[in-house]
Amino acid sequence: MAIKFGRPIEMRDAPRRQTALASSPLDLAFRPRRNRKAEWARRLVRENVLTTNDLIWPIFVVDGNNTRTPVASMPGVERLTVDQVVRDAERAMKLDIPCIALFPYTEASLRDETGSEALNTKNLVCQSVRAIKQEFPELGVLCDVALDPFTSHGHDGLIEDGKILNDETVAVLVRQALTQAEAGCDVIAPSDMMDGRVGAIRQKLDQHGFQKVAIVSYAAKFASGFYGPFREAAESTPAFGDRRTYQMDPANGREAMHEMELDLEEGADMLMVKPAMPYLDLVRQARDRFPVPIGAYQVSGEFSMIMAAVERGWLDYERIMMESLTSIRRAGADFILTYFARDASRLLG
Ligand code: PBG
Repeated sequence: MAIKFGRPIEMRDAPRRQTALASSPLDLAFRPRRNRKAEWARRLVRENVLTTNDLIWPIFVVDGNNTRTPVASMPGVERLTVDQVVRDAERAMKLDIPCIALFPYTEASLRDETGSEALNTKNLVCQSVRAIKQEFPELGVLCDVALDPFTSHGHDGLIEDGKILNDETVAVLVRQALTQAEAGCDVIAPSDMMDGRVGAIRQKLDQHGFQKVAIVSYAAKFASGFYGPFREAAESTPAFGDRRTYQMDPANGREAMHEMELDLEEGADMLMVKPAMPYLDLVRQARDRFPVPIGAYQVSGEFSMIMAAVERGWLDYERIMMESLTSIRRAGADFILTYFARDASRLLG
């Protein structure tokens, strides 16, 4: 029996009838379109599904009362006062979004060289965590650990002679993480990219009885131009220089695996790649290589470039939103931080 591509030749498409359009049908062993011919078939063979369970919703907190201020460069995204953060936490609960992530917009008068506001137990993030946990203890709350929203120079660390200090910064980050754990957050997410911070934070949390607080490490965080709109939202653009001595070179994939391996050894519960879409190859590599959950952060610039095209009528909002999120899932992400979280979960029903 003749075999072509592993199947008996008799099973191949045989010409059945002649039509005007297809006078001589191609002699094909495989016709992949058969699996796409109707919605029922497409549903049956779909390899990856996006669900609301996969989403983390980032929220910006600002001082004040009962106010929601649009972020110009991120259509649909607002800076919220603490009371409004609680209202969005309620929306997250109703939409069944498992977790939200909090990012502060710190007013200039509270920023200093060392980012000391990060350690204030009543800062905006801590206030928000307490207020959310009081009303919605079941909602997951993730807090970013990094100094850039709190420093007058906008860098993620302490500075000496224009250089970002590593170990001294880690000592502060550890205290910031503890402050946030004490406020009641569930997940600590170090986004600073200092060496050794995951292990140091784990140790400090454990010493203080916070064994249950998880660490989701932004293990592979790149020095990316895609953070532009976020820096407007949080006003955290560095006053001098850039972040290339601590965030990763976009050209490096192997090094990303090394960073992830180190954070895993130091005790990270989950690992993240950030940004998401320009780094999907690394999401896939991480998924294949590490046993822990892998997340991806679809950052502000990814969101805003889609929204800009949507506003011009060049792209279809819902379609592109879902396609971009599904692609990140297909690359291997277990969860996605995304500014689309609310609208996507509405669509997912
Ligand atoms: C702070 C931080 C940044 C983002 C998340 N945490 C900004 C940065 O590193 O410049 C960016 C998120 C986004 O662009 O959506 N370390």
